[in-house]
Amino acid sequence: MRAARFQPRLHLFVCANERGPASSLGPGCGSRGREVFEALKRETGRRGLAASVWVTETKCLGVCPPEGCALSISHGGGVFESVTAADARTLMDRIEGTHPR
Ligand code: FES
Repeated sequence: MRAARFQPRLHLFVCANERGPASSLGPGCGSRGREVFEALKRETGRRGLAASVWVTETKCLGVCPPEGCALSISHGGGVFESVTAADARTLMDRIEGTHPR
């Protein structure tokens, strides 16, 4: 094993997990997470951060909010719930404030 040649400054994991209608755990973040993923990809691109702040769709992060989605930020950036696409700009402002280039 060795460290990868390319490493992000930060890595955002956005839950877009889908569960079937019979699941007792609810439907999952699903399409709400995909909307957040797309909004964050647009925002990182707009800010010229696509190479340094990676955004990845993932499965369940264990939070399962009833609205929005769950999001985890690498390097101890925390786990957030009820994130919506409208939060993308605020989230990136926060990231740039706490993890300057
Ligand atoms: S389904 Fe998204 S955190 Fe569990």
